[in-house]
Amino acid sequence: MKVVYAGSFDPITYGHLDIIYRAQKMFGEVVLAVLHNRNKQGLFTLNERIELLEEVLSDKPGIYIDSFEGLLVDYMTENNYNIIVRGLRSSIDFEFELNLAMANREYDQEVETIFLPSSPKYSFISSSLAREVASFHRDTSIFVPEAVQIALEKKF
Ligand code: COA
Repeated sequence: MKVVYAGSFDPITYGHLDIIYRAQKMFGEVVLAVLHNRNKQGLFTLNERIELLEEVLSDKPGIYIDSFEGLLVDYMTENNYNIIVRGLRSSIDFEFELNLAMANREYDQEVETIFLPSSPKYSFISSSLAREVASFHRDTSIFVPEAVQIALEKKF
């Protein structure tokens, strides 16, 4: 079964990878839907974020990379996808994600959201922390794999 894991991935972290690998193990196929938000300038461009995903996940079967603009629920409907996977690091994530899941379902009753609790060792990780640490030229290896570390070093 194909499930969708959407996000900005600015950049991809070990926290995202934890969810991606576990979702692939459970469902067989995972589509990584990279959000193209024209109103929000990220650190990495859409192409750079996709290239990093490709680099980090190149040899992994059952994982596909795509991008979308607009509402996630519309992307799901248009592509006939039914399951969104989201990772939960804490109750703060839960509050936010529950609203998102409920709103998405209002727009398409066929779209369900599955929550995976983050592995405890990755639950402190976020893309913004990785970006901040990199901006001070410090080691980001606790947050991101090597290809992303190198990309972050180049950015700063
Ligand atoms: N481990 C580590 N970090 C995680 C994580 C995990 N399991 N899950 C989320 N994060 C972090 C990311 O690192 C990122 O950190 P940051 O904010 O510090 O940079 C943050 O959580 C969120 O990033 P990401 O997972 O890339 O998702 P997002 O919040 O940018 O995007 C979408 C989530 C794409 C699902 C949502 O914004 C969306 O659907 N957007 C489209 C518009 C839409 O449909 N809106 C809803 C209307 S009803």
